[in-house]
Amino acid sequence: MSQTLKIAAIAGDGIGREVMPEGLRVLEAAAQRFGISLQIDTIDWANCDYYQQTGAMMPEDWKAQLSGYDAIYFGAVGWPATTPDHISLWGSLLKFRREFDQYINLRPVRLFDGVPCPLAGRKAGDIDFLVVRENTEGEYTNLGGILFEGTDREIVIQESVFSRKGTDRVLRFAYELAQQRKRKLTVATKSNGIAISMPWWDQRADAIGADYPDIAVDKQHIDILTAHFVLQPQRFDVVVASNLFGDILSDLGPACTGTIGLAPSANLNPERDFPSLFEPVHGSAPDIYGQGIANPIAMIWSGALMLQFLGHAEAHDAIVRAIEDSLKQGPHTPDLGGQAKTTDVGQDIAERVRNAT
Ligand code: NAI
Ligand code: MG
Repeated sequence: MSQTLKIAAIAGDGIGREVMPEGLRVLEAAAQRFGISLQIDTIDWANCDYYQQTGAMMPEDWKAQLSGYDAIYFGAVGWPATTPDHISLWGSLLKFRREFDQYINLRPVRLFDGVPCPLAGRKAGDIDFLVVRENTEGEYTNLGGILFEGTDREIVIQESVFSRKGTDRVLRFAYELAQQRKRKLTVATKSNGIAISMPWWDQRADAIGADYPDIAVDKQHIDILTAHFVLQPQRFDVVVASNLFGDILSDLGPACTGTIGLAPSANLNPERDFPSLFEPVHGSAPDIYGQGIANPIAMIWSGALMLQFLGHAEAHDAIVRAIEDSLKQGPHTPDLGGQAKTTDVGQDIAERVRNAT
């Protein structure tokens, strides 16, 4: 028996509350099947109701409350009808990413059988890669300012920040991942246009790459890289990118493989100094909330990534296989053209995991 994994489950808002129970159902099935000891604590803050009641998204001691957990399993946050998005997002998720130094944002991109692909002529197996995005620095800073505002001399400066520490650690993470896969790494760059930071980023990729001579590295400018995601998705294995480029690629990639209801993500602090966070890519979907028709697969797959990160690769693989089989054989929620409810899909996948061989 492994040591107990402590998980903080934060459902958040909207369909976060509908997909979370299905995610937990499958986690519990996997725990039972593979002898994993899980302690799951439900957290009822970091949602817009809490904000309406208290004036803050989270209690003041949120960091102390969460620090002891191995991971945060997160639904979705945001309820624009009552709470502006910048308050709900900056007051919860973005605090986790920064203060828990979750410097890797990892998004798998995979085409499954049974899911209509927006790209013509692609079948399951053709698209299977990982986008690794730097999650703490780069282009997303609040350094800069506006001079002579409102005059015809108006000057706007917005700085990017690339630290050697921040860059090297995300590159190394990507090389390590590539080593466990097909040994192919694509480095997103724009060294022909962004003349200081991007040539330097390329150099760091070479420097770290010296430790991984067996990995084939392909540097691609971000403009043609986005075109290749659409035109030649089969050529990718691991793709690493700065914060801004990674933000774009990690939406484009999953979009190339079908519904947003499938796409999972991990926000990782690989050293495990702090809890990492696992969440579906989608938001709280106010337009369908309350009908019980949200697709729970992104949430369930995010749970699989969590178990993998915490050392249970066999449980991860079993959940992903169960998702594959369920997508092939149904039931399907309406976003996939079916009539199934959120719970139907959750129960089907949990059953498959319980019976995994
Ligand atoms: P959204 O992802 O919530 O919804 C976009 C569209 O996809 C909607 O039509 C929705 O019905 C559909 N959809 C999303 N998830 C689905 C699922 N599991 N099954 C079936 N259909 C699904 O994005 P939107 O509408 O832009 O944002 C709504 C709220 O969510 C906002 O408050 C926004 O800030 C927040 N948000 C939160 C995120 C997070 O917690 N990480 C990420 C994205 C948005
Ligand atoms: Mg985005």
